[in-house]
Amino acid sequence: MPQEYKLILKHADEPGYTPDIECYLRHGGYDALKKALAIQPKDLPDGKKLSGPEQIREDVKISGLRGRGGAGFSCGLKWSFVDRRSGKPIYLICNADESEPGTFKDRQIMYKDPHQLIEGMIISCFANDVHLAYIYIRGEMVDGAKILNRALAEARSKNFLGKNILGSGYDLEIHVHRGAGAYICGEETGLIESLEGKRPYPRIKPPYFPAVLGLWMCPTIVNNVETLCNVKHIVAMGAAEFAKLGTPNNTGTRIVSLSGHVKKPGYYEIEVGKATIGELINDPKFGGGLRPGRSLKAVIPGGSSAKVFKAGEKFKLKKKDAEGKEILAETDMLDLPYDFDSLTAAGSMSGSSAIIVMDDSTDIVEALANIAEFYAHESCGQCTPCREGSLWMSKALHRLTHGEGRASDADYLVKIADNIPGGRTICAFGEACSWPVQSFVAKFKDEFVAKGKADEDRHAKEIESVGATAGLELAGGHK
Ligand SMILES: Cc1cc2nc3c(=O)[nH]c(=O)nc-3n(C[C@H](O)[C@H](O)[C@H](O)COP(=O)(O)O)c2cc1C
Ligand code: SF4
Repeated sequence: MPQEYKLILKHADEPGYTPDIECYLRHGGYDALKKALAIQPKDLPDGKKLSGPEQIREDVKISGLRGRGGAGFSCGLKWSFVDRRSGKPIYLICNADESEPGTFKDRQIMYKDPHQLIEGMIISCFANDVHLAYIYIRGEMVDGAKILNRALAEARSKNFLGKNILGSGYDLEIHVHRGAGAYICGEETGLIESLEGKRPYPRIKPPYFPAVLGLWMCPTIVNNVETLCNVKHIVAMGAAEFAKLGTPNNTGTRIVSLSGHVKKPGYYEIEVGKATIGELINDPKFGGGLRPGRSLKAVIPGGSSAKVFKAGEKFKLKKKDAEGKEILAETDMLDLPYDFDSLTAAGSMSGSSAIIVMDDSTDIVEALANIAEFYAHESCGQCTPCREGSLWMSKALHRLTHGEGRASDADYLVKIADNIPGGRTICAFGEACSWPVQSFVAKFKDEFVAKGKADEDRHAKEIESVGATAGLELAGGHK
């Protein structure tokens, strides 16, 4: 049976656990940092030496840690792309924007256990020769920024930050920067622009890969809050132990934000891939099932930009049979293991690990209209396909939900959505705004067509009756 596995949230919700440093220290806080700073250079068989920081970077690779911000990219690989020869300073930014609709996991860490994030960041900075780092926190999280600033001051007072940290000779400062209140501030290059004091216009890649040309055109690492917390645990437990958590290529734990039509919405930490979508929705330890008398209609598995799954949908997934041979097995949507690879194989993504559950009371056209309105509002406007396309989709959905739809709107929506992504835009927002439209319409086309057709029929009748009245009046006028 699937269980919650609390690694990152081990203490956060324990009665009496507080965000102050004394409480953190009582729970073994900053021991992993001490361990990291004390790692001695290691001799390699080829006569080379691996420094302590290099060993941590190697361990992060071995751990298999994948980014928890959305794309699930290997953290160790990302760090290996950092240009270490430019002679410029290297920066690290913690992406704490957490603005993907449906996602509410990073804030649990920042509000309840801020020192865990700070310790993870200090170790990550030490590993990457970073001496100045930022936490870019979503602007609306006013209290979160206060809590983090207080925690940073506490860490400074104990010399976990500042000059010559714990006598190691290593210097580091971390600042909190409150975001500018836009979804696009979470996109890493938009975030960097915003941190530089400008509008959060994403930068085009290439050439502006943050690892080479990031903050102030210097090499920069951008990692999510949860990703950075994991680094602390990789050092604390060792990379090999960490890699035993979860499933192959999907290691560690993930905090899943579960919302919508379940009895127990909330955040649940699981070993990656050790619970299925169905278990997360129905198991009493997690969502506890749907509301009484309701049946499942759809699930968005990874935040609002992830492609929707329809209840009863089946996928062909690679599995090993009893003899260990790889086979293609038919898998129901509810039986998909909640991990990076299975969801990608099923044509969607685990994204920011936010599951949004919709039961049969959901008006699917209304649901998509809501999502599309968000994306139309949040497009930064730099790219024509995204700026115009997201607005056109939102307008079409607005008319469909306000009695002005057309039966052809379903095809119209897909035509627009198909013409936004695929390298036509500067950033992945193009994909993020198209995927919901493409998938909702493909999987629930009859509902979109029926709504549009009903509006057209009603209008036709109205015109007919207006015409008939006008005809009568005209006929009367001749008498
Ligand atoms: C439109 C858009 C919004 C994003 N918002 C967030 C966000 O709120 N938080 C986050 O961590 N990553 C967000 N990302 C992903 C970041 O660009 C980046 O990939 C991530 O912070 C890298 O961290 P990770 O490797 O630790 O996952 C967003 C991406 C896009 C395209
Ligand atoms: S894809 Fe959209 S959000 Fe991204 S840069 Fe272009 S207009 Fe802005």
